[in-house]
Amino acid sequence: MSSNYETIKWEVKDELGYLTINRPDKLNALNPQVLMDIKDLVLHQVKGSDEVKVIIITGEGNKAFIAGADIEVMLNMSSKEGLAFSDLGHQVMSLLETIGQTVIAAINGFALGGGCELAMSCDLIYASDKSKFGQPEVGLGVIPGFGGTQRLARLVGPAKAKELIYTGKMISAQEAKDIGLVCEIFPADQLMTNVEKIAREIMSKGYISVTQAKRVINKGIDLSLDAALELEKQGFAVLFDTDDQKEGMKAFVEKRKADFKNR
Ligand code: COA
Repeated sequence: MSSNYETIKWEVKDELGYLTINRPDKLNALNPQVLMDIKDLVLHQVKGSDEVKVIIITGEGNKAFIAGADIEVMLNMSSKEGLAFSDLGHQVMSLLETIGQTVIAAINGFALGGGCELAMSCDLIYASDKSKFGQPEVGLGVIPGFGGTQRLARLVGPAKAKELIYTGKMISAQEAKDIGLVCEIFPADQLMTNVEKIAREIMSKGYISVTQAKRVINKGIDLSLDAALELEKQGFAVLFDTDDQKEGMKAFVEKRKADFKNR
């Protein structure tokens, strides 16, 4: 199954969705159309769908994942337009963060500004050894506006986030891994195969339980420890009402592979 959008490509193979940002001549910069295309795709073809279990997001071409929000578009924006652009970006990032599917960013080059922010709204980030990360916005007279000030600080701690945002410097994939932004680095020509392998591994587990883990981790992170542990307790308990829990544990006892039905 595949769909045509103006600025993105979408294809589903055996329940694995491939979302490719498709503006290679502009290093896949996020203009409002890209954001609207992603929003439309997620709302109408992904959210609540049984046909997609994991999504891999990457950039077209071999140079960039996403080189940021589109600077040419932002150049003449008023603050009201800036607010609307930021709001649209936030909507897209929140959608990726809250859909049931696992979302994986496969970083194949520059992940700057809005590109780094989009990656941070994914569940997992894997990068090619040639990738570069950064939040260069202060060099353009603005700050990250698609969630970067908050998600980067939560992911790598406020000190490192401030260093990256205040200096606007680019860091290598290795440095991004060292600070906990990236899970793993692969040679550029092996990035996709490795990410697909990880996606398939996740898909072999109980979809309901992976989705529940995503919900509890993401929601819990902004709660007090007590409230987050309560959330975990409830999230754990409710899974005992599923067939998948019975199947998963029965399969272990019977020393066979579980056959999850997502029920
Ligand atoms: N917005 C709009 N256009 C962008 C862009 C962005 N964020 N990033 C790259 N492009 C465009 C360039 O303008 C250029 O278009 P052109 O060929 O029509 O002139 C094209 O993509 C190729 O980029 P170019 O700068 O020529 O490539 P490079 O290899 O010399 O440099 C980067 C690569 C990523 C270092 C450089 O493009 C860059 O600094 N981009 C902006 C990064 C940024 O500040 N992002 C945060 C935005 S808030």
